[in-house]
Amino acid sequence: FSDQSVEPLIGVIDAGTRTVKFCVFRTEHTKEVARYTVDIATHTPEEGWSEQDPKEILSAIRTCMEEVVKSLGHQANHIVTLGITNQRETTIVWDKTTGEPLYNAIVWNDIRTDSTVDLILSKVPDGNTNYFKSICGLPISPYFSAFKLKWLMHYIPKVKKAVKAKKCLFGTVDTWILWNLTGGVNGGKHYTDVTNASRTFLMNIDLLNWDPQLLHAFNIPVHVLPEIKSSSEKYGCIAEGFPLEGVTISGILGNQQASLVGQRCLKEGQAKNTYRSGCFLLYNTGTSKVSTQGLVTTVAYKFGNSPTVYALEGSVAVAGAAIKWLRDNMGFIQDVQKDTESLAQEVFNTGDVYFVPAFKGLYAPYWRKDARGIICGLTAFSTKQHIVRAALEAVCFQTRDILESMKKDCGIPLSKLHVDGKMTANNLLMQLQADISGIPVIRAESEDITALGTAMAAGAAAGIEIWDINREERELVPSHTFLPTSTSSERNARYTKWKMAVERSLGWALP
Ligand code: G3P
Repeated sequence: FSDQSVEPLIGVIDAGTRTVKFCVFRTEHTKEVARYTVDIATHTPEEGWSEQDPKEILSAIRTCMEEVVKSLGHQANHIVTLGITNQRETTIVWDKTTGEPLYNAIVWNDIRTDSTVDLILSKVPDGNTNYFKSICGLPISPYFSAFKLKWLMHYIPKVKKAVKAKKCLFGTVDTWILWNLTGGVNGGKHYTDVTNASRTFLMNIDLLNWDPQLLHAFNIPVHVLPEIKSSSEKYGCIAEGFPLEGVTISGILGNQQASLVGQRCLKEGQAKNTYRSGCFLLYNTGTSKVSTQGLVTTVAYKFGNSPTVYALEGSVAVAGAAIKWLRDNMGFIQDVQKDTESLAQEVFNTGDVYFVPAFKGLYAPYWRKDARGIICGLTAFSTKQHIVRAALEAVCFQTRDILESMKKDCGIPLSKLHVDGKMTANNLLMQLQADISGIPVIRAESEDITALGTAMAAGAAAGIEIWDINREERELVPSHTFLPTSTSSERNARYTKWKMAVERSLGWALP
């Protein structure tokens, strides 16, 4: 950036499951100066299916960028670089000669690929869910992109044909955005970053390349896959026809890895938990990788040529989505943000009600696609208030499940938990989390930690010093702390009951 007298700005496209956002940050005080958000529709053509229109994602990005540029006026010219962060695992295939999607995006929490999972399991010794974990860090589960891509190649004739004709490109949401923004059919860059690639089930977690054994197991030709890049480097420039034409894109991070960076959990042993529709706890493990306790090994970030940093991840499929279900399907609440806390506070406890929201099976540490939701412990005394409170506690118990696995994997328990995400505005949820896990919970004040982490990655590649990620003394995220008020015997008694409820939800979908 040549003009030293003007403070450079950094833009971030944040394409999440529910919304697409474009935010702009000042670099001197890490302060957000503009933001525009558009909701994205999710379609459920069959039970358990979850789809989005890839073109809607693109047009939402265009709208957000246009609105932000408009609101910034001439200041928009100071945006020197851009980052992309995204919902991970969601799978898109398109025709590289027309740019047209060949099917809707299959969203990360879609469980249509159960039969594809069973097929892969039938081919590995003892149906071992962890058979490929030493290669890609992941258990066999419908969550990851390779199962969705295999399903598309098998069931959708258009996809099958395009793959055969070498016209089909695959991408997670970052790749779809980058390819389109950098020119699409006119030379768009077909890249992904290591964090997104590490969620596909196709990347070798040590070598950071597409793994031949995995490609063979899924029968996926390498020509459909994007090139794997680091999370912080110059990938290309915004093409003609988009707002901010000519601006470089220089950071890509999956959204959960982005919030780990934004929370500045950059040292081994630091962890954060993000509470949104799902819940994602990432623990920085530095350069070591393996989990034996049902957690996922994932790439946390890799900035340019610097060493790869890994994380253990505990993913929970249904967190905030359970509250949304109480609103949409049960009619218990009107407004997810406003009503949940007050309603749950009308009772002192759940009256011994436990709610396991295994709508999509259970992810970490169970990895049981046959688990189903269960509410147990109901009596004639139970009210909707008890159930709403039990839904909040379910988020906290699921987090404790992951903390327990992390303790076993890493040997040392976490001494505090950094948290972010929309749900963390709920003070009762934060207090319940501290009480159920027995450690202080530290809430980030800034809502846009994910975008901030991405801006840090993009800034680092653009040589903007203020984003120096090694400056540990900088306190970027002022926060609020919730301390545990429960005794360990209270905590453990309740956790034992939770485990009993989980036991009952497992295997429910089995014949
Ligand atoms: O792994 C899925 C995760 O990236 C989803 O993110 O918060 O947009 O639902 P979110």
